[in-house]
Amino acid sequence: MCCRTLVIAVSWAFASLVSGPALAQTTATALTGIVSSTEEKAMEGVLVSASKTGSPVTVTVVTDKDGRFSFPVSKLTPGQYSLGVRAVGYDVDAHKAIEITEQKTTTLDLQLRKTEDLAAQLSNGEWLASIPGTDQQKGQLLNCVGCHTLERIVRSKYDANAFLTQILPRMQGYVNQSIPAHPQLRRAERLMEERGDQRVQVYRAAAEYLSTINRSAGPQWSYALKTFARPTGRATRVIYTEYALPRETISPHDVIVDADGIVWYSSFGEQNLGRLDPKSGKVTEYPIPEHKPGFPTGGLGLRADKDGNLWLGNMYQATIIKFDRKAESFKFWPLPPEQNIDAAQVNMVSPQSSHIDGKVWTQNNGFAGVHRLDIATGKIETWEPFKNAPKGEPHNIYDVIPDSKNNVYFTDFRHQHIGRIDAETGAVKLFEVPTARSSPRRGSMDAQDRLWFGEYRGDRIGMFDTRTEQFKEWKLTTRWASPYDVTLDKNENAWTGSMITDQVTRLDTKTGEMVDYLLPRSTNIRRVFVDNTTTPVSFWIGNNHGASIIKVQPLD
Ligand code: HEC
Repeated sequence: MCCRTLVIAVSWAFASLVSGPALAQTTATALTGIVSSTEEKAMEGVLVSASKTGSPVTVTVVTDKDGRFSFPVSKLTPGQYSLGVRAVGYDVDAHKAIEITEQKTTTLDLQLRKTEDLAAQLSNGEWLASIPGTDQQKGQLLNCVGCHTLERIVRSKYDANAFLTQILPRMQGYVNQSIPAHPQLRRAERLMEERGDQRVQVYRAAAEYLSTINRSAGPQWSYALKTFARPTGRATRVIYTEYALPRETISPHDVIVDADGIVWYSSFGEQNLGRLDPKSGKVTEYPIPEHKPGFPTGGLGLRADKDGNLWLGNMYQATIIKFDRKAESFKFWPLPPEQNIDAAQVNMVSPQSSHIDGKVWTQNNGFAGVHRLDIATGKIETWEPFKNAPKGEPHNIYDVIPDSKNNVYFTDFRHQHIGRIDAETGAVKLFEVPTARSSPRRGSMDAQDRLWFGEYRGDRIGMFDTRTEQFKEWKLTTRWASPYDVTLDKNENAWTGSMITDQVTRLDTKTGEMVDYLLPRSTNIRRVFVDNTTTPVSFWIGNNHGASIIKVQPLD
């Protein structure tokens, strides 16, 4: 699914660069060249990556309309590098080793050739564009991408019967934080939403459909493979820095940057809180004890309170965690026994407004519940907003996001509702998102108490103004963009990332203009984070399936 790596030989040309040190910092070039191919001549929108030998850091730039790429001196310190490209449909031939030294600019042109294995280069989004099927049929595959790529499914040779009797039941048995490198089994059956017969019908239809898009009928696919256009214009004016994490089983889920520029991440499948120093690339892990031994491990939501303490949801360990950054010590609140059923799953912990009333909101995926922790007393209150919903109607309270008064807003991932719980009275109110079946997933509150959220099945950025109780939506350009989370930056640009297309979208909320930045390699984006202390802002995400952390720095 990724760029081919090549090692290149270059000879240094002397740099003819600007003189002022401040300018030199931003414009001096370490490595530049033109990317072309026989088919297209100079190629715009080719991602060129440089990895330094022995370093966990890979830097990527994108070719402009003349096919030119340029790595600034500030991004490539002297040393030996290998290069790779991402340009769907193309590969690059391998060259020999290179050495980058100081004070010189290298010129290196890259000639690409048509790839012999296009299938290995498609994103999930390109597979969804290629496969036949109705929206309803394709939409089922959005349930599969949390744990692995669609390539694994379409390359398989199982027939409908094998999907029905072996594969789908096996997939159901894994918890959501499973990846092929670290599968974990469910301890409890989820709430049985459909009655037995209905479930088998749904499975049978899915199994039959899956056998029409994979290779069960022959070695090749029965449909043409479609690819998306490469980035153009503004989407090429960006630099990516990717930090590889020390183990492939670290699936960074939430990535946030603290006031000191240190990056923190939750590990989706393992009992650690991670810390990355982006200056050195050094990773430190803080082990988290298990509070429910034998149940799946891993954490999801990671958010900071006003004092900079980090709060984490320990999912199936059914525990709320606080990490004091200064003392480097943890404090734990396991759920009380009544709520700590086998299916209990504490994903989100939201302390953003806990300074108002000493309370932290959280949710429980085990039964569509919302909890509120009183930090001083340890008392945990519970709401079940859908307790009186018709029997069998599925609800999934995905995220809980407090406003400035510590009232909480929650997303109902199975439908199209935003809910509100009043901090003082406890009253629950539901608001319907305009787009039906839009599956609001995760979000954040801005300084004006506007809730920004990803509409996973609506392909939209959603905004709910909690003061006027009005919604606004922006449709993303790519079908199956499937945004997970949204955050607003200091310039009123909203940012989101796709679990499907490897794209990060930046929306100017004033003009509606959108830029889709393509990431350097297959990336399963979840939580999104903007660092507003830089100009332009910098955007951070975890590569949930690729064990890395990525910084996206737009150049404008
Ligand atoms: C909760 C995590 C999870 C989800 C969701 C998931 N899978 Fe998987 N899948 C896995 C893991 C782990 C493996 C590798 C281990 C295995 O084969 O059981 C895998 C492997 C596979 C394979 C390869 C099996 C083989 O024998 O080569 C297929 C095919 C597959 N999944 C299909 C699907 C489909 C179709 C969906 C959606 C309906 C899906 N998966 C959803 C976790 C998941």
